[in-house]
Amino acid sequence: MELFIDTADVNEIEAAQSMGLLDGVTTNPSLVAKTGRGHREVLVDICERVSGPVSAEVHGTTYDVMMEEARELAAIAPNIVVKIPLIEDGMRAVKSLTEAGVKTNVTLCFSPLQALLAAKAGATYISPFVGRLDDIGHDGMGLVEQICDMYERYDLDTKVLVASVRSPSHVVESLRIGADVATIPFGVIGKLIRHPLTDIGLARFLEDAKAIPK
Ligand code: E4P
Repeated sequence: MELFIDTADVNEIEAAQSMGLLDGVTTNPSLVAKTGRGHREVLVDICERVSGPVSAEVHGTTYDVMMEEARELAAIAPNIVVKIPLIEDGMRAVKSLTEAGVKTNVTLCFSPLQALLAAKAGATYISPFVGRLDDIGHDGMGLVEQICDMYERYDLDTKVLVASVRSPSHVVESLRIGADVATIPFGVIGKLIRHPLTDIGLARFLEDAKAIPK
């Protein structure tokens, strides 16, 4: 399974990259807004540092506007993946972009039927938002399992990118189910690394090391 980082903060991207934990990056308007920088400026900066897929989201909701934004975003770097919302005009845009050879990440997926339509339109990635489903008492990882089963059964090529990840258990479940990618916020990456028995074991080894003759 590939690990993407879900951020527009280049410091977080560099930190994950330095640990060899970075297969790609996902951004969204909320994450870019947090940086206080312009959309294009942030994406240029990220693409100068990252060779894997970098998802960049359109802000329009009509076919024409999304297509124009998609062309501008795709021109930034060859590794840009255009993120398109799961709405009717979005599906039309995904079909056209796929035919034009532009990679897409269909975002804000909350049902298996939406995931089916995105795959039919030719999406490169589908992003089920597991945390936001859990937040309203639904089963986010259950949706991921349904989508993975459906894509396998019907031989659909779209990759399942688990998004809105909030905890290590979302990552463990993604691995168990066989999702293609999990995009993880920087704070959760830290939680994947840490284990109390590692800390206790390290403290013991360091203490015992003091007794080793020089
Ligand atoms: C990723 O592509 C999504 O935009 C992101 O994971 C959303 O996460 P959130 O629900 O924590 O905002």
